[in-house]
Amino acid sequence: MDLNKEIDEARQGEATVIQPEGDPNGKKLYVESYGCAMNFSDSEVVASILSKEGYSTTRDVEEADVVLINTCSIRENAEQRVRRRLTNFKNRKKHQPELVVGILGCMAERLKKNLLEEEKLVDLVAGPDSYRDLPNLIEEVGSGQKAVNVLLSRDETYADISPIKLDQSGIVSFVSITRGCDNMCSFCVVPFTRGRERSRDPETIHKECKDLFDRGYREVTLLGQNVDSYRWNMTSKGEIKDIDKPTTNFAQLMELIAGISPELRIRFSTSHPKDMTDEVLKVIAKHENVCNYIHLPVQSGNTEVLKRMNRGYSREWYLDRIAAIRRIIPGCAISTDLITGFCDETDEEHQDTISLMKEVKWDFAYMYKYSERPKTLAERRFDDNVPEDKKGKRLTEIIDLQQIHSLEANQRYLGTTVKVLVEGPSKRSQDDFSGRNDENVKTVFPKGDSKKGDYVLVEVTECTAATLIGKLIKIL
Ligand code: SAH
Ligand code: SF4
Ligand code: F3S
Repeated sequence: MDLNKEIDEARQGEATVIQPEGDPNGKKLYVESYGCAMNFSDSEVVASILSKEGYSTTRDVEEADVVLINTCSIRENAEQRVRRRLTNFKNRKKHQPELVVGILGCMAERLKKNLLEEEKLVDLVAGPDSYRDLPNLIEEVGSGQKAVNVLLSRDETYADISPIKLDQSGIVSFVSITRGCDNMCSFCVVPFTRGRERSRDPETIHKECKDLFDRGYREVTLLGQNVDSYRWNMTSKGEIKDIDKPTTNFAQLMELIAGISPELRIRFSTSHPKDMTDEVLKVIAKHENVCNYIHLPVQSGNTEVLKRMNRGYSREWYLDRIAAIRRIIPGCAISTDLITGFCDETDEEHQDTISLMKEVKWDFAYMYKYSERPKTLAERRFDDNVPEDKKGKRLTEIIDLQQIHSLEANQRYLGTTVKVLVEGPSKRSQDDFSGRNDENVKTVFPKGDSKKGDYVLVEVTECTAATLIGKLIKIL
């Protein structure tokens, strides 16, 4: 999740080390997060739960009493990275035996006790719904036992926990609105690692966003595996649970959050093509502060592959949703996720993905080779039979094409003025600031008199496929 902190980097599985906070004398917690924005957001919940036990976070693993690694299982290579990292910590324990090493998140849920028993890599295993139990689990380890809690819950949303912000920006933040996923896409491990979908109380979401705004944050990204299925006080079939209380759907939740302040930008991720309604699109169009950017993963351009993936929509349906976005929110940026080499994918089916890319011309895409995951529907039903080199060639082909599309998309800003929220210094130079425009494109410019958290107008003079470069025109 960075969640986006760079959501981009997070989604690519980059590790982010959590930043230091407070009390030099208390116990020290070091957290490292992998995977999606949800994990990054959860690490902040964990820091909050443990802060009540006297822990402050540190960026220096050398001074840590407890090390927690929040992990991802989405593809095999995500797990391999974590295993290498855990082996490192295992070695560290040889000369620091009192160090507690714990594994959190999706790998913890998937592998459960195996990580303690067979692989002997860690002292503590806590699944995504058991973080309230961490103080007890750490205590159990302290008394010489190995500790595990991987129970999944139907209602845990950590709604009442005010996360401790671990990123340095102080300007942009992730806010979870749902947990789990009920979709069962055949390739995906998330329903097994995160459990059933549940929505968080809208009042607590509003409160968290309002508090962030009051503390100087200027952008929130509402997070869920499928934000369009957010529903409060309603069953999955749309029946009202408690007739004396109001119901809230995703469109209504966005209205509520957009009303906090015109100065607070709202983003959201991830939208699902089968559930994204025109009502949601109209809310985006209506509110200046709801960003014109939708991440709408398609996975494949071929309807038969989409059926095997159990995605719940066809190529035509997806194109209809793209048309709806362009009709209701002209100029809206759209990005996607694509998987190459899914089970039985033929050359013709792959060509349908290429043709869909040419038809939609996404502004940006995350692209992956299919990686078979244990227990998923695809693992049980189909053969992972596209050879590795073919998966790789198809991936290279779509990456090369997307590169051209991303560059073209960014070229449309040349000579125009874009509104950017300043997030902080650019990676390359302390004299430049970096932020994103409404459409989520990273924009870099010489900082002038602007400061972090300002909205500024930038005239775009150059661009790459990933970045806009420009000059500061006005501080708003
Ligand atoms: N809930 C989001 C996706 C979360 S996972 C959605 O439905 O869009 C992020 C992305 O990882 C997916 O969109 C998919 O493109 C990719 N992914 C998931 N499982 C994968 C697998 N087994 N192999 C390769 N890529 C996978
Ligand atoms: Fe996985 Fe599909 Fe749920 Fe996304 S919607 S998390 S891809 S099962
Ligand atoms: Fe996220 Fe990875 Fe789990 S993508 S939900 S951390 S499997």
